[in-house]
Amino acid sequence: MHKQKPLVIGHRGAAGEAPENTLASFALALEQGADGIELDVHLTKDNEIVVCHDATLDRTTNGAGWIVEKNWEELRSLDAGMWYSEAYIGERVPLLREVFDLVPRGHLINVEVKHAYEGRMEKALLAFLQASGRMEDVVISSFDHKVIRRLKVAEPEVKVGLLYTANLIDHAGYAEQIGVDVYSLHPYHHLIGDEDVKAASAANVKTYPYTVNELRDYKQLISFGVSGIITDYPGRLRKLLD
Ligand code: G3P
Ligand code: CA
Repeated sequence: MHKQKPLVIGHRGAAGEAPENTLASFALALEQGADGIELDVHLTKDNEIVVCHDATLDRTTNGAGWIVEKNWEELRSLDAGMWYSEAYIGERVPLLREVFDLVPRGHLINVEVKHAYEGRMEKALLAFLQASGRMEDVVISSFDHKVIRRLKVAEPEVKVGLLYTANLIDHAGYAEQIGVDVYSLHPYHHLIGDEDVKAASAANVKTYPYTVNELRDYKQLISFGVSGIITDYPGRLRKLLD
C-alpha cells in the first residue's frame, strides 16, 4: 500500500537549532520546510496566552518565577534567546497571537496545553481560536485528557489530540474511550508500533509521535505510515522525505 509522507512538525519550532518557543525558532522551522509547528502555552495573571514550555521563567528567560503570577506587561521585555546563544539575544516570550501571525494559513499549529489554570486556559484559548478564524489549522493537545475532553465538549469544531507516554494496550481504542471525537494521537515515539498506527488510521485518527530526532527513528515511523512526526530538527526530516 502506498504510504503518504508524514507531516514535518517542528517541535517548539526548530528547538534543536534555535531557542525553543521563540519567533526565531518558528521562523527557522518554516524556512526549513516544516508543514507545521508544535508549541506550549501558559496563561499570565491577566489572561494572556504566552508561548513557553515551563510554567516558570527561569530556564529559558532572564526572568524568574511563575508565569501565572505575572502580568503580560512584566513578561513582554524579558529575553528568551540569550540562554541559548548570543546570536539570539533580543528574542522574546511570544504571545500565541504573534505565532499565529507568523505562521501562514494552511500550516498545522499544534498547541500543547500544559496547565488548565482552573479552566481559565480553556476559556482563553477557545475565545482566541474562535476569533482567529483558523480553527482548521489548529490541533490542541495535552497530557491532561480531561482538558482535552472539556475543550471538545465546549467547542465541537476544535481538533483535539491526546498526548501520552503510557505503553497502551490499544491506542485507537483508548481514543474511543475519551467520549469525544479525538483527531490525533501524540504518543512518545518509542511506544507506538506498526499495528497501532494501522488501527488508528482505520479509525480515522491521526498519529503524531514525539519527539523524534534520529534518522533511524524517522525511517521506522515513516515505514509505519504515521501522519506526522514532531521533531526538533525539521530540516533534517524534510531532507530525508524529499
Ligand atoms: O507535544 C509533544 C511534546 O512536546 C510533549 O512533551 O515536554 O516536549 O512538551 P514536551
Ligand atoms: Ca510540547
